[in-house]
Amino acid sequence: MTETDNLLAQNPILPTTRIVHLSDLHFGAVTPGLAERLLEQIHSLEPNLVVISGDLTQRARSREFREAAAFIKALPGQSLVVPGNHDLAAFDLPERLLYPWQKWRNFISPELEPTVEADGYLGIGLNTARRLSAHLDWSRGRINLRQLLHAEHLAKQSRPEQVCVLVTHHPFFLMDHMKHRGLVGRFGIAWPRLKAAGIDLILSGHIHLAYAHLCQGMIVAHAGSGISHRLKGEANSFNLISASKEQIQIEQMHDDGKQYVSHHHQLFKRQGEDGFVEITASAA
Ligand SMILES: [Fe+2]
Ligand SMILES: [Fe+2]
Repeated sequence: MTETDNLLAQNPILPTTRIVHLSDLHFGAVTPGLAERLLEQIHSLEPNLVVISGDLTQRARSREFREAAAFIKALPGQSLVVPGNHDLAAFDLPERLLYPWQKWRNFISPELEPTVEADGYLGIGLNTARRLSAHLDWSRGRINLRQLLHAEHLAKQSRPEQVCVLVTHHPFFLMDHMKHRGLVGRFGIAWPRLKAAGIDLILSGHIHLAYAHLCQGMIVAHAGSGISHRLKGEANSFNLISASKEQIQIEQMHDDGKQYVSHHHQLFKRQGEDGFVEITASAA
């Protein structure tokens, strides 16, 4: 029984919406056997929604997209998948510049910015990866005005009981020692507008580290790399989330070599108009 199951049993007002948040799978740079083990564990958790916040592939090769597509097809429940910077061709400039998302559309989905919903949640995906950047580091991403208006429009139309989840690849919060990676471009403009529109939770990746942070009443959660050997000093992981409009719990599940086990969890509760406050944070 996971930490989330324990809390659900203790507190019947906890929500029933269960989200598995994966990121940075990097097919093409995967630890052998881990994808199969992760899939098995996800099925056992019976999530309502599986989110993948970008970097499905290592080098945007067709064979990597095929493997990613097979993984997504095998997931239970609804899924919401957005691209990351690694899903753009790194060396084939004609492909990158002229038809950057053709493979994504061929293998993964015609949609780069999917929206999913059910009784308890609204999930809004945005593509923050860019084929060109004014910054020297082309791995950086940004949000543009069209995307901001799109997310605002959808969030404002959500029903009162739906927790509003925004999914991007690039980060809306970075710890001090990771600041050099750069927040998603136009972060400063987007943040207050997303909060005012009713976004409760932002799910991202890119850094290959797992953490959740409260920023002015809105929660930002990052998933580490689910199955790739491209690790940054932290085990492969995913986030197991229980979410409702009034309460959100985020549990980091780290791979211990045999299975993904509870590593750390945080509980947030809504407090009036100001959004969420953090109630507990503890390591397993
Ligand atoms: Fe990545
Ligand atoms: Fe990335």
